[in-house]
Amino acid sequence: MLPNQDEILAVLENCSTEAELKEFFVQYLGKKWSVNGLFKQMKDLSPEQRKTAGQEIKMLHDTIQTAFFAKQDEIKKAYWDEKLKEEIVDISTPANTLPRGYANLQNLLRRNVENLFQWMWFHIEYGKDLVSIQENFEHVNIPANHPATEMHDTLYIKDETHPKSKVLRTHTSAHQVELIKKYWPSCKFIVPGKVYRNESMDASHDVVFWQVEWVVIGKWITMKHFKHTMEEVLKGILETDSIELRMRPAYFPFVEPGVEIDAKAEVGGKEKWLEILWAGMIHPVVLENAGLDPKEYSGFAFGLWMTRMVALRYGLGDIRLLTNGDLRFLHSFPEATTI
Ligand code: PHE
Repeated sequence: MLPNQDEILAVLENCSTEAELKEFFVQYLGKKWSVNGLFKQMKDLSPEQRKTAGQEIKMLHDTIQTAFFAKQDEIKKAYWDEKLKEEIVDISTPANTLPRGYANLQNLLRRNVENLFQWMWFHIEYGKDLVSIQENFEHVNIPANHPATEMHDTLYIKDETHPKSKVLRTHTSAHQVELIKKYWPSCKFIVPGKVYRNESMDASHDVVFWQVEWVVIGKWITMKHFKHTMEEVLKGILETDSIELRMRPAYFPFVEPGVEIDAKAEVGGKEKWLEILWAGMIHPVVLENAGLDPKEYSGFAFGLWMTRMVALRYGLGDIRLLTNGDLRFLHSFPEATTI
């Protein structure tokens, strides 16, 4: 006697969760299920009866199985419909974007300066922040105990050989001799980078600031080339023709003659002459240190106070704004997004 198909389908119809479906499956379609058990009972039937009974059981099984899969789909669909209603994803809402990075204005200007010099076929070198005493002082004609080292008071690093073996470079001139040797005879290079001094900090001084050194050496290099380069570079950096400059004689052991160049600018609300550039014709001793004959060759070196140039170019009243980490400051310069 076959179980009643309608009764079984009615049980299926009543299932509304995955768990109930599972139970139904075990009971009616699994290994131990009632319909399956029917096949076992067939062994008592005659071969003739077995054939028709087999077909009927198979049809019953297939009907229940088809209905089962249909019900399973229905329950799954209902489950997902419900879930999707709860977890609606609005693809038109703007995505969470990462905040945009900004270049520090010093880096921005450094890149401008590098471009400018690349146009004039200068090599670019960054040197290193920690240099030897020889590089920082002796190579550029400042004997280790010379009073001029005091102007460059800074942080020394000791090692086994000496209590003051290395120094955080106080100027980018520390790389002059090494780079003159490296690039000779194509001797035009710049060194942009940070330098370190023992300074009292105020609106226009910091213990760490940026310089750009530029050096040209060759035959017949004179003050005329010197002046021309200076004007071109300053006009290029400040993007203006109307910058008011003042040149004063100055002493640096590695140039002869040496000059200090000031620009007129507004600082802390007042008009002031700001020292922005140092320069001079390279001292014969420095040329000799680099293996060149000063009677045959000459050249000039400049040291630009980059941090102050940044202040001039962007009209900052206080250079500490550049390093105090206040993002609102950088965010007020849209060009700083050109990373
Ligand atoms: N290196 C000097 C300083 O930082 C500046 C300078 C550079 C002067 C090149 C002359 C020539 O004090």
